[in-house]
Amino acid sequence: MKKIILGFAALSLIFASCNKDEMTNEQEQINYNGEIAGKSRICKSNEVLEEQIKSNPGRLQVLEEIENQTKSFIQSKRPGNGGSGGGGNDNEPPTDFPVVTIPVYVHVIYNSSQENISEAQINSQMQVLNEDFRMTNSDANQAPSEFADRAADTQIQFTLAGITRKFSNKTSWGTRDDMKKSSQGGVDPIDPAKYLNIWVCNIGGGILGYAQFPGGSSSTDGVVIGPQYFGTQGYVAAPFDGGRTTTHEVGHYLNLRHIWGDGRCRQDDYVNDTPSSDRANYGCPSYPTNHCKSNDMTMNYMDYVDDACMYMFSNGQKLRMRSVLESGGARAGLVN
Ligand code: ARG
Ligand code: ZN
Ligand code: CA
Repeated sequence: MKKIILGFAALSLIFASCNKDEMTNEQEQINYNGEIAGKSRICKSNEVLEEQIKSNPGRLQVLEEIENQTKSFIQSKRPGNGGSGGGGNDNEPPTDFPVVTIPVYVHVIYNSSQENISEAQINSQMQVLNEDFRMTNSDANQAPSEFADRAADTQIQFTLAGITRKFSNKTSWGTRDDMKKSSQGGVDPIDPAKYLNIWVCNIGGGILGYAQFPGGSSSTDGVVIGPQYFGTQGYVAAPFDGGRTTTHEVGHYLNLRHIWGDGRCRQDDYVNDTPSSDRANYGCPSYPTNHCKSNDMTMNYMDYVDDACMYMFSNGQKLRMRSVLESGGARAGLVN
């Protein structure tokens, strides 16, 4: 029982940054960079999770179980426990896994004809997802030497299973999951235990995308991306025209937290090889950017920088993502 209580306390830290006192810091950061007016860019995937916990106390216990499964999977891979070493550090698990393929359904829900994005635009997004997750992205070699050997080929790839299209009178959908419900004029997910469902529709409020973390309701499972931030060609808008919003949201969908742990220095993203930070970074930060007495891994997909300035997952993030795809993991059904 004690262990569970401790776990819950740790999990509650995730949400601390969404509280008012922490908001100030990030709010200033946004205004300083002048990118997005208002606070809507902050914590959307996390806010949705927080709502789920409020309306369903069992959600927190499921999260805790997923963390336990992740910890024991990573532990089992460490040298001396059947693992064979090699994550760039003697204590870190090896990072070689079978390549797995996740099938993807894309649901395009449009009001304007521009929002009815082309197949070419959808394919350009699939290409970015595959490049980023397999570390074949052309900017992969830009990581500073401090971080270069932590950059990961996650050995996860994606294939397009199908596209659905639907006209709607709605011009913006918000973050309350209506786009995922045919009863609300949206589109129901297709077999979410087996497929990554991606809804492409205008969210509004300056929000690029949001994701559901593992362990949530299957009826709302998947990620949502605004059409202008999906793919690299067609109806896209700089500086988020590199397809990296989807890379970031699929990171959440596979259980990654923001790189700064959504809080102060001691708040964790549960990843060993990502330095602690106390804030999101925006724009295109120069290296080194130092917070919490270490250099931020600003080029990580789970920071908030522009698409052109994020180009890596770390080995530790890879282990978290691979954990939920293992047999017994919360997203094992995606792998066939
Ligand atoms: N959920 C974040 C938002 O809506 C996504 C940030 C993605 N960052 C990016 N450079 N594409 O702001
Ligand atoms: Zn995020
Ligand atoms: Ca970390």
